[in-house]
This record gives sequence, C-alpha cells and structure tokens, in this order.
Amino acid sequence: MVNWTAHHNRVFLSNRVSLMTAVLLTAAHLFSSAACAADSAVRLNPLQPALRMPADLTMHQQKLFAANARSGTVSIVDPESLCVLSEWKVANSLNGIASAGSFLIALDNHQHVLQVLRYSVSSDELAIQQTIPTAMDPVQIAVSETGQIAVTSRWSRRVTIYATNQDSNDNSAISHLCTIDLRFAPHCLLFLPENKLLVADAFAGQLAVLESLSGNIVSTMDTHGHNIRGLSLSADGQQIHIAHQSLNYESFISHEHVFWGDVMQNNLETRDLRDVLSASRVTEDSSRHIYPLGTPSVGSGDPDEIVVTRTGTTLLLLSGFQQVACRTDNHLPFFRLKVGRRPDAICMNDDQTRAYVANRFDDSVSVIELSGEQPKITATISLGAGRPLTETEVGEQKFFDARLSLDGWYSCHSCHTDGHTNGMLSDTLGDEGQGAPKKIASLLGTHDTGPWAWTGSKPKLEDQIRTSLLVSMQSPLGEHELPVPQLAAYLNSLEPPPSISAARGETQNSDLINQGRKLFEAHGCADCHAGSLLTSASVYDVGLRDESGTTEFNPPSLRGVSQRDRFFHNGTAQSLTDVLKSGHHNSDDLLSNDEVIILIAYLNSL
Ligand code: HEC
Ligand code: HEC
Repeated sequence: MVNWTAHHNRVFLSNRVSLMTAVLLTAAHLFSSAACAADSAVRLNPLQPALRMPADLTMHQQKLFAANARSGTVSIVDPESLCVLSEWKVANSLNGIASAGSFLIALDNHQHVLQVLRYSVSSDELAIQQTIPTAMDPVQIAVSETGQIAVTSRWSRRVTIYATNQDSNDNSAISHLCTIDLRFAPHCLLFLPENKLLVADAFAGQLAVLESLSGNIVSTMDTHGHNIRGLSLSADGQQIHIAHQSLNYESFISHEHVFWGDVMQNNLETRDLRDVLSASRVTEDSSRHIYPLGTPSVGSGDPDEIVVTRTGTTLLLLSGFQQVACRTDNHLPFFRLKVGRRPDAICMNDDQTRAYVANRFDDSVSVIELSGEQPKITATISLGAGRPLTETEVGEQKFFDARLSLDGWYSCHSCHTDGHTNGMLSDTLGDEGQGAPKKIASLLGTHDTGPWAWTGSKPKLEDQIRTSLLVSMQSPLGEHELPVPQLAAYLNSLEPPPSISAARGETQNSDLINQGRKLFEAHGCADCHAGSLLTSASVYDVGLRDESGTTEFNPPSLRGVSQRDRFFHNGTAQSLTDVLKSGHHNSDDLLSNDEVIILIAYLNSL
C-alpha cells in the first residue's frame, strides 16, 4: 500500500473548518428532499473512516478521478505521488464519471442527475458547475471523440444523449440531444465510428446499435449470453470485444458439470465491427469468436470491463475473482494479475503506460504498469480510511464473490444479476429433481415474499440461501463457514424495482389502472396474488407442469413485474400478454382482448 497519510495530515489539519461544514452539509443532504441536487462540492477528509466503493475511474487533467458509489464522493489521486489529493462529497451515491474536455461529469444515481464538475489543478478544488436531470437510474456514461455524451439508465430503460458546447471563454454547457426508449434495461455502452453507439443489456444478452445523432435504433442482436459488462474496440478498431457469461440450462448443477465449465462459461466474445454496424444476421454468427476465460480449476467468475491498448494488450477484469486477465496480443493466451476485491472499473492514462483498476470492495486502486514487456502490478493506492462493515455490507461482498463457488466459476450475481435476474433458466435442483430447469428468480423484494423456490419448498429464506450455496454454487466452504446470515441480511435489504412507467415518469392513465385493479379482483387474480405484496404463501395448480411432473407452484410477487422479461417457472411466457393469453394461466376464465389491455396497464403500474 502506498502511504498517503503523512502527506495529508498537513492538508487536513489546516482544513478543520471545512471538515465541520462537510459533516453538517452531509447531514443536511440526507434529509433534503429528493428533488434538490447538491449545489456545491464539499471537501471531506480521506482520513475520516468511510465506506466508499469506487465504481468508476477516469483521467482528467493528468489526475485520476474515482467516483465512489456508497459515499457519493469523488477521490482525486495524483498519479506521480500515488497520493489521494482530496475527496469531495458531490452526491448521495455515484455510479460513473467521465472526462469531457475541460470538465468532468459524474452520474448521481440517487437524484438521477448528471453533476457537471470543474477541477482546478492549482488550488485542488472541485466545484459543481451544473446539475442536469437524466433518466431514472443512470448506470454508465461514455464520451465520444466529438464530445457527445451518452448515459444508460437501467430501470427507465433509456439512453440519453447530450452534446457539449464550449464557448471561447472556455465556458462549457451541455445540451440534451435525444432520449431513446429501449426494450431492455441497458448498462454498458461504447461509441463506434460513423456516429453509432453500441448499448448492451444490463441483465440478459441483447445488444442494440443506435444512431447517436438522431437516436434511431439501427439494429438489435443477441449474444446468447448474459451479464454483458465489458465492451471495447480492438487495437485496429476492426473488431468489438464483448465480455459476458453464458449459462447452459440443460446441464443440471453437479460437481462435475460445474468443474468442467458445462454450467457457466465466462467469455470474451469478438465480432467484426462491420457486421455489427451492418447488422447482417447472416454474417452475425460467422464473425463471432468466443474465448472461454475459464478452464477447470482456474476461476474466472464475472468478467467485467475491458481495455485494449494501441499496441494490442488486452486487460479484462474478473470482478468476482480479484484478478485481471491480460494478454499482449490477440493470438496469445491470457495470464492473470492479482488485484483487490471486486475490480469493477479500469482506465488508462493518455500515453497508455499505465492502467488503473478500481477495487470496489477494498476502497483501493491497483496500478498496472504497461510500459514493460508484460503488464505488472506496481502499487495499490488506498482511497482512505475504512470503517467496520455491517452484516448487510459483508453479505453484499459475498453476493458478488465467485470464490464462494466451486473453482470460482460464478457468483450469486452471475445468475441474480445485481440482485435481479439474468432472465435465464437454470437447473439448480431447487425442486430436488434434475431435468426441470427453472427461471432464475429476481431477489429484489424477495425478503417478504416467502416461502421461497418456485415450488414454495423453503419456508425460511436462510434455508434457500444454504441450498443456493451448497447446490447452485457447489460451494467449497464447510457447513459452518457458509455466510448464510450475511447473505440473508443483504437480500433483506433489496427493494423491488420501480415499474417501467414509474421509472419513466410517464403520466399514468389512472382511470385505466383503476379499471385494471378492479378486473384483477373480479377475475380472482388477487386470491393468489394477494395484498400489497401481490403474492401468497400457498402453492396452486394453474395448469402448468414441469418436467418432473410438479403442477403446484408458489405465485411470484407481481411488484415490479414489468421489469421482468420472461415469465412462469419455465420462462415460456415472453411477455405479460403471453401470460394472460397462454391459457396456462387462469384458463377457466378466458380474458377478452380489452380485458388483457386493461390488466396489463395495471400490471405495468406495479
Ligand atoms: C446457476 C444460477 C444460480 C446461482 C449461481 C444462484 N442462484 Fe439463486 N436461484 C436460481 C434459480 C434457478 C432459482 C429458482 C429455483 C427454484 O425455485 O427451483 C433461484 C432461487 C433463489 C432464491 C429464491 C427466490 C424466490 O423468490 O423464491 C433465493 C433467495 C436465491 N436463489 C438466492 C441465491 C443466492 C444467495 C445465491 C448465491 C449464494 C444464489 N441464489 C445463486 C439460480 C441461481
Ligand atoms: C390460483 C392462483 C392464481 C390465480 C387466480 C392467478 N394467478 Fe397468476 N400465478 C399463479 C402462480 C402459481 C404463478 C406461477 C406459475 C408458474 O410459473 O408455474 C403465477 C404467475 C403469474 C404471473 C407471472 C409472474 C412471473 O414473474 O413469472 C403473472 C404476471 C400473473 N400470474 C398474473 C396473474 C393475473 C393478472 C391473474 C388474474 C387474471 C392471475 N395471475 C391469477 C397463481 C395464480
């Protein structure tokens, strides 16, 4: 660890006053109304114990900036001394940060705004210059070479594009260009040549190519994978690298199947750029190459961000396995570098002599030297003093830790992406039999919707978690080492997602929704999807049968149901219309087309 403490005692002793103000302002933020954004950045003391959780990194004016998810602060690091120069509170929580010419933009995912920040190197001051509302739940930001800014927003399923304008006095402003509604919840994004923007699914495997000037959707395609967390162009700019996972639902989970990588693969997929741009379905598959990152006994859980240098060195984060996979040429195999816990973001300096990796669960940044023959870790920078973790926070770390599974193949998050679902089926033997794969359940809001498992066989959440660890994960841990209480505390903290229409702030047609609510009751839906949780503890036969002959299932809660993309225990219904028209559901009392429309308006509001 590089020691920055001595350097900073000096700075912060003379800064007692601003520290006091910081504490007061922080408290004020917590109680201020959701609509009002922070109007000035507040200097904090990195020596003050805190949980930061760096989520994104960028270089700006020769300094390294980290956006911290949990503390809502920006840490500014000097790459020369490897010291934290200062830390600034700019939000309650931050998801991303990017440099855009003379200013920085941070994603505030609590207030759903962009914070436009200006940094003065001479005084080491960070100021908020502008606060711009963006679509709900912003998760990632990218800036193009021509100064366009694109932001993906997950629950509102939107991409928002902005233009930057700079006048002769260096006063910059950002203006909204367009907002694009997507059918899937987006996460990663990458600007491509010809004013195109590639956007990837946050949960399943969809990709979309957009026109970044008009916002038109040019094409969509499927990677047949899920958890797409890395997108990058190759060194020659002719290919696109995509980091994702693929889950084989036909392979039931056993020690052997996990060991050989039959259940889950962690992939680096490469496609020709021209095929992606032309969206030619014929060549789409022929230009695909998949590099499987995992081999037996070599964990590779949860591939994340990728960077490729001009000379063709690839660095790919393995966020569940505390490693970076590296190769110095496309034709060479990957080797590994050890970094901190949950490496979740990577960036390079301008001359590409160094890469920096944000270790989200260690509040640290690993420094990778790229100028030698092979990439090497040369330092680890602590972003500040830590504090003891709560049980929920420990549980969160376990949830994203692939080392809980056999040989580190995957984590809970590989299937239950960020606590939600990757939308796939998996044969986790949850029903105690093999050959009957089940749809992976969303865990957002799971705390009060017991019993658990589709068959309702687990009366206690802890029982389900123990089974998840021992069976789904084939955990190498002994019975007494299983982090069941911690994972339960974390799952208990997860709230259901907002409906898509609520996330988009669409004026709801309350008449239609009221009619829908009445129909829901009149058709007896509320008998099984009862009360405010819209579920019940029993199992019912609604005319569906799994491969093992089971016909009785526990109804899923319908809170946030519009954010799911496949329905029923076997995922056969692809939309809410499918559910209501399937005849497998509520089959004695067939619904008219009008009733279906009205019921869907209601379901979409939950
Ligand atoms: C390989 C994919 C996979 C992994 C990894 C996985 N799960 Fe699951 N999980 C599933 C599937 C499939 C179901 C539904 C199983 C069923 O009901 O038969 C499920 C169901 C659950 C449920 C019940 C939800 C409900 O509403 O009934 C909980 C809780 C859960 N998992 C927690 C976890 C935790 C915690 C981990 C990590 C220790 C984990 N899972 C790892 C696939 C997975
Ligand atoms: C007799 C109890 C019962 C009634 C009545 C009922 N449901 Fe269900 N519902 C279930 C069960 C059980 C499931 C899960 C079935 C499965 O996946 O095998 C389910 C699944 C669903 C799902 C899919 C949720 C998901 O995430 O996969 C939706 C949506 C739904 N029901 C809506 C309705 C609506 C709307 C009505 C009224 C028209 C209704 N249900 C009536 C028991 C019921």
